[in-house]
Amino acid sequence: MNKKVPNTNHLFPLFWLVCITIWFNAIHGSSQPNKADSLILGCGLEGGGKDTDGRQWEPDNKYVSGGKSVTSKATFQDPSLLSVVPYMTARIFPSEAAYKFPVQPDKRYWLRLHFYPALYSNFDPSNSYFSLTANDVVLLTNFSASITCQALSQAYIDREYSLAPLNSNSLTLTFKPSEHHNGAFAFVNGIQLVQMPDLFDTATMVGFADQSVDLKPLHSQTMFRLNVGGQFISPMQDSGLSRMWYDDTPYLYGAATGVTTQAAKDVKINYQTMPQYVAPPSVYSTSRSMGEDKDVNLRYNLTWVFNVDPNSMYLARLHFCDYYYSQVNELVFQIFLNNQTATDVFDVIAVSGGKGVPIYKDYVVYTQGNDEGVGNTLWLALHPSVDQKPSYYDALLNGVEIFKLNDTDLSGPNPLPSELMEEHEEKERTFEEEEEGVSTATKRHIVIGGATVGGAGLVAAILIVALKNKKKAPASYSNTTSSWLPVYGNTHTNGTKKSMSGKSNSGGSNHLSAMTQGLCRYFSLQEMRHATKNFDDSNVIGVGGFGKVYKGVIDNGFKVAIKRSNPQSEQGVNEFQTEIEMLSKLRHKHLVSLIGFCEEGEEMCLVYDYMALGTLREHLYKGNKPLETLTWKQRLEICIGAARGLHYLHTGAKYTIIHRDVKTTNILLDENWVAKVSDFGLSKTGPNMNQGHVTTVVKGSFGYLDPEYFRRQQLTEKSDVYSFGVVLFEVLCARPALNPNLPKDQVSLSDWALQCKRKGTLENIIDPCLKGKINPESLNKFADAAEKCLSDCGLDRPSMNDLLWNLEFALNLQENLAAAASSSHVDDETHQFEEVNLNNDNNDMEAQT
Ligand SMILES: *[C@@H]1O[C@H](CO)[C@@H](O)[C@H](O)[C@H]1NC(C)=O
Ligand SMILES: *[C@@H]1O[C@H](CO)[C@@H](O)[C@H](O)[C@H]1NC(C)=O
Ligand SMILES: *[C@@H]1O[C@H](CO)[C@@H](O)[C@H](O)[C@H]1NC(C)=O
Ligand SMILES: *[C@@H]1O[C@H](CO)[C@@H](O)[C@H](O)[C@H]1NC(C)=O
Repeated sequence: MNKKVPNTNHLFPLFWLVCITIWFNAIHGSSQPNKADSLILGCGLEGGGKDTDGRQWEPDNKYVSGGKSVTSKATFQDPSLLSVVPYMTARIFPSEAAYKFPVQPDKRYWLRLHFYPALYSNFDPSNSYFSLTANDVVLLTNFSASITCQALSQAYIDREYSLAPLNSNSLTLTFKPSEHHNGAFAFVNGIQLVQMPDLFDTATMVGFADQSVDLKPLHSQTMFRLNVGGQFISPMQDSGLSRMWYDDTPYLYGAATGVTTQAAKDVKINYQTMPQYVAPPSVYSTSRSMGEDKDVNLRYNLTWVFNVDPNSMYLARLHFCDYYYSQVNELVFQIFLNNQTATDVFDVIAVSGGKGVPIYKDYVVYTQGNDEGVGNTLWLALHPSVDQKPSYYDALLNGVEIFKLNDTDLSGPNPLPSELMEEHEEKERTFEEEEEGVSTATKRHIVIGGATVGGAGLVAAILIVALKNKKKAPASYSNTTSSWLPVYGNTHTNGTKKSMSGKSNSGGSNHLSAMTQGLCRYFSLQEMRHATKNFDDSNVIGVGGFGKVYKGVIDNGFKVAIKRSNPQSEQGVNEFQTEIEMLSKLRHKHLVSLIGFCEEGEEMCLVYDYMALGTLREHLYKGNKPLETLTWKQRLEICIGAARGLHYLHTGAKYTIIHRDVKTTNILLDENWVAKVSDFGLSKTGPNMNQGHVTTVVKGSFGYLDPEYFRRQQLTEKSDVYSFGVVLFEVLCARPALNPNLPKDQVSLSDWALQCKRKGTLENIIDPCLKGKINPESLNKFADAAEKCLSDCGLDRPSMNDLLWNLEFALNLQENLAAAASSSHVDDETHQFEEVNLNNDNNDMEAQT
């Protein structure tokens, strides 16, 4: 660096260390708890070890203070465990035993407990029921980590408590196996005890504006912690308190989910006197608001729903930061909690004092209820404050945390896994027993079972399933729910359910899970031959990477499409199985339905509903000659249908599913022009919430590939949004995504369309058949939406839901309907998505409005 002083080079590391230390102290503030007050213990972890984040976990033995315990290693490592430490070792308590930790009597502490219910030598986790107390505070009673994980479809769970000052120099954690279960034992894999700053003060009681609750002496359990409108924040990315913040989308109610926004790069989050540890800037610099349309906003509440225990007290901490408006009375809204007005007039700028200044509001609600399911949800809703006549009718939220509060007892019942889930487990168990002795490590496991699924996303998805299904099948789901509370655990998976592999058997597939086999029909090869006149080439309706697609007839006249795999292709085998596994569990009006499959020897076939009108592509252009011109309205309806199908894949199913090969040949049309998304051969479940993406080998079709995916090999649902953007331009311009015969700058439709859009010459390249027939506003709305889909960075692309909204709007504009009509559309949507039934045994899962 400085050549005149060459000998100081060795000082640079030290210099940087000092700088970093200063910077660290500066950002974390001086009230950062002392590191000496923080214990991170791997239970049964001799010699300690580091987790994948590089955090050091110390051995726990010197804190074990009474009773008998043994240490053990888990016999199975679930593929969803991101880190061996602390989950793969446990301390097991066959009888009552305790830990004793030194604490400061007047300080508050985080207590984080980690449980991985695996088989530990001969300790079977399904026998583990125990209670846990922290001095006199009851944290758990009759707790089964195994049942809880099962209900959440998670391999492990992390619980976070915040203990009020204990007035004692020590904290004794007592584990006590249940007396009501033979052979019950207690166990724990990891314990974190961290002194925490004064995060809690007082809060108003909703419905009793004059009453405030003193939070200081109350203990709490963290139920939900969401970065609203933003992404997962890992403990290392938190502002010094190692918390995890999850995406809020799984908790949104209905289809009117508003829009997400992000602070402009030049807006700095200005904490002023508020300590940064309250929440990191990444929480305050993203948000969800209602949308641009005042009339729409007046008709709905932006609503989140959380499952909670009835008859308990909850603290809802709402985080706000307006990084867009800067004047008082621009944005004023109402806050409702459990349908009661928490605040009638809320103006973020008026409270915070300026643009980019974060604030939070604390409310306490009591969930009055009974065991019949009343009181087990907590509703948070926002609505513009019409009476205040603000400049914009909108509302805003940046983050939310929900804590259960009590001064003596935070325990709740175990969740009841759904009956369906139990049935599946039972089927899988029987199947496994039958197949015993056969090697289970298979490719398929990696392709499907090992496709670990995203954090709160999945759990929350299940939560939503629970909420949605409750209306129809109240018996299937628990009414007592602390359990559905999905906060902790980085990834979740169905990986504990082992996938099958083995020698051929005749009556069914040897590769598919029992569950899948139960869900769709099995055809014999003879039936397939019969349906297709022995695979006669005259019946071929398409050829794909997988093999040929035949038209066929089954059951005396029912038309089907039969995809026959090319036995040579190993890739084909995997994709075949992916497709069956995925499709058999998915039913939606805008997804092609899988009727069944055939697997006999080398032969594999998939049987689908026949789509009479073929692919979208062939109606746009075919050998440059359009068959019969689709009107703009028809095209919009087709795009909306396909977008609904993709939206369902991304958010409606049990797992987030990324299609990975969205293109006009994978959008099919039935005899009524209803668009259906097809071809799930490349689909992946994901994203992995810890990283927000799934890392994979790049697959997909050129011309449609997300550049970000290509660069970083990281897959998110925004990769599908990108490809869908290309589809939108294809629909508008009626030309292929790639056309090598054109001049260089026009070869790629995405590049060319964006270039024209930016130059304002898009009109020159739209399908000549459409010229003069599109309402200019509709065209603008559509083109803007398509352009956003093609944003280079996934974060800048809209969600499928936002996109749907825009497409519907474009359709309304085309139909010359007033904006008001679009709100009735939103209502239709609500029904459509609410009623989508995710159970697997129901073949008719379309909207039943
Ligand atoms: C605290 O928990 C106990 C035991 O579950 C319950 O009886 C009491 O009502 C709770 N208190 C509050 C304020 O929720
Ligand atoms: C709040 O209102 C919604 C919609 O009307 C209703 O479904 C829900 O049960 C209510 N929640 C509570 C806690 O009263
Ligand atoms: C919003 O929620 C509040 C409280 O539940 C309710 O009174 C109001 O009618 C709702 N408004 C709309 C437009 O749904
Ligand atoms: C303990 O939990 C299990 C599973 O939720 C339940 O079946 C059992 O009745 C509970 N036992 C007691 C004593 O509460």
